[in-house]
Amino acid sequence: METAMNFQEQALFKESIQQGIPSVLPQAKPYPADANRAPKRKDILNSDEKQLALRNALRYFPKEWHQELAAEFAQELKDFGRIYMYRFKPSYHMKARSIADYPAKCQQAAAIMLMVENNLDPAVAQHPQELITYGGNGAVFQNWAQYLLSMKYLSEMESDQTLHLYSGHPMGLFPSSTEAPRVVVTNGMMIPNYSKPDDWEKFNALGVTQYGQMTAGSFMYIGPQGIVHGTTITVMNAFRKVLNKGESSKGKIFLTAGLGGMSGAQPKAGNIANCITVCAEVNANAATKRHQQGWVDELIDNMDELVARVKEAQAAEEVVSIAYIGNIVDVWERFFENEVFIHLGSDQTSLHNPWSGGYYPVDISYEESNRLIREEPEVFKVKVQETLRRHADAVNKHTARGTYFFDYGNAFLLEASRAGGDVMAENGIDFKYPSYVQDILGPMCFDYGFGPFRWVCASGKSEDLDKTDAIAASVLEKIMQESPEEIQQQMQDNITWIKDAKQNNLVVGSQARILYADAQGRMEIAKAFNDAINSGEIGPVVLGRDHHDVSGTDSPYRETSNIYDGSRFTADMAIHNVIGDSFRGATWVSIHNGGGVGWGEVTNGGFGMLLDGTADAERKLKSMLLFDVNNGIARRSWARNSEANFAIKREMARTPKLKVTLANLVDDDILNNLSL
Ligand SMILES: NC(=O)c1ccc[n+]([C@@H]2O[C@H](COP(=O)([O-])OP(=O)(O)OC[C@H]3O[C@@H](n4cnc5c(N)ncnc54)[C@H](O)[C@@H]3O)[C@@H](O)[C@H]2O)c1
Repeated sequence: METAMNFQEQALFKESIQQGIPSVLPQAKPYPADANRAPKRKDILNSDEKQLALRNALRYFPKEWHQELAAEFAQELKDFGRIYMYRFKPSYHMKARSIADYPAKCQQAAAIMLMVENNLDPAVAQHPQELITYGGNGAVFQNWAQYLLSMKYLSEMESDQTLHLYSGHPMGLFPSSTEAPRVVVTNGMMIPNYSKPDDWEKFNALGVTQYGQMTAGSFMYIGPQGIVHGTTITVMNAFRKVLNKGESSKGKIFLTAGLGGMSGAQPKAGNIANCITVCAEVNANAATKRHQQGWVDELIDNMDELVARVKEAQAAEEVVSIAYIGNIVDVWERFFENEVFIHLGSDQTSLHNPWSGGYYPVDISYEESNRLIREEPEVFKVKVQETLRRHADAVNKHTARGTYFFDYGNAFLLEASRAGGDVMAENGIDFKYPSYVQDILGPMCFDYGFGPFRWVCASGKSEDLDKTDAIAASVLEKIMQESPEEIQQQMQDNITWIKDAKQNNLVVGSQARILYADAQGRMEIAKAFNDAINSGEIGPVVLGRDHHDVSGTDSPYRETSNIYDGSRFTADMAIHNVIGDSFRGATWVSIHNGGGVGWGEVTNGGFGMLLDGTADAERKLKSMLLFDVNNGIARRSWARNSEANFAIKREMARTPKLKVTLANLVDDDILNNLSL
């Protein structure tokens, strides 16, 4: 009975994909009661522009539907600030199926459909009805018509055609070649002078651009696993900066704040990094949710109790994560009074959004703060700025005692400085404290080529994922035996991660895995997967990576914040990366404006590559992965980063056809003696 149902559902699914925009106007549907709706967007268009937005939306549909749809879409624009075309959302279950279940003429197209559906799976996506995967605005498509048309094109595509997606809009299938990518994605690419936040609001409302974040609009999001691994690497390496060689992180405190979307990974990462994590969270619901999910061990809402519990954990050298329900500033201040030594301090409140709930002021209840945001926004702003000054003072007192503090890319230092907090360095230009990329991820990972490599088992089988975990672990163990001292620690961390990956139980949606690896690791793991596919041991595998990586992203205050030759405000690296990957064998490529740090603040790109066990796949993976990582190492080395210089010389020694321009270092004395 169940098989018959599945068969029927499967047939319906295929038919629906092949149809694209349905031939009969579907019934309007009520909005699902349990869905997490995207926030209402800014009402930014004037009435002429609203007409243009409707004209733009209606061009997807036959004329005879325009009367009915015009009124409905006008209502959507009024109610939500955008036209999502809810009526056209397909009724089949959105999820990553097995690659064999997609109606496709080529496997590469089927792999892309699988990844698109994974990004829209309600178990994975933040606002699935609005086609938003994460970050509040990270869109896969702007509307359901674009989804339907794109999936239809993918189902018709042959292996010598390429689909060009303009911010979600499928411009069409163009003849290309089997060597070309099957899909080229651009998201939010703007003429530079039109890349302010309100330009996104306007042109997105018109239906001509979208915010792809990093892995939302490139179909490469794999749920919270990616954040946990990245945060773990950061916390572990931060401890290494402050502890003596061989000293354990057990019984040492990592104090931070935020148990939201990304910040919720901190206690889990702290546990993996073997420390005591204290994470303050003002929203009791957010803290309780993370506790119920098992992402944080204990909940405490009383400060005396917190201090006593932390002292006990320090004495017993426990590995434990504690959520304190309350304001982070209270914790910094009280730990100072009670002489609780903090080894590592950071903050992941949402200070990129300080005035509407990203950061809550101290000494005011959560409910009262929310009232102020709505009713007295100017008072709220003053309270936030007072709190930021107190926050900075408390951090400074601890760092004077020896605490290592880093900014977690959430604009804490920027907003604290704007509020007049004491966070500037003596030169009045830099901050007193480094960002996590400047001090940790940049020099310790990206400059050596280590970054968030990932893969998805396209069979959908968890056994395949287990086998790939084992293959990846054995490849890395082999490489580590011959790795130089400089990267031994990173290799060991990644081997530990992959060996424990299954028991960390982080798979949501597709059968996916993240694993930080360098160029050699990525290439050898991919080759071993391809061999295993060829021998029938596992099914096809999709390779990819987060854009938050060595080469794919130019972002002056995050990924490229440890570039000090002035070029961090350029975006050449990200553009070269996407073009270079596209002709070296990527199955799809993407380049985006925007990402975690905001529209106009970052250019980021990525790729997807299907491994199908063929010799062609082997040739492509070697060529593309070598470039995908070493492009960024070369740029980092040219910027005089010593770790990258070491890594690129090593790569040139092993790859005779690689010839990279190396920087000569001038002696400071020569420059200091000039009168400039
Ligand atoms: N994890 C990462 O890898 C990473 C990387 C770069 C940047 N970030 C940045 O980290 C920030 C957090 O991201 P998110 O997705 O978790 O956001 P989020 O808004 O979901 O979570 C932030 C949490 O902080 C809490 N909070 C606010 N003010 C507080 C205060 N004074 N004391 C205690 N708790 C407070 C909020 O209630 C909220 O739950 C963002 O700015 C993001 O850009 C994260």
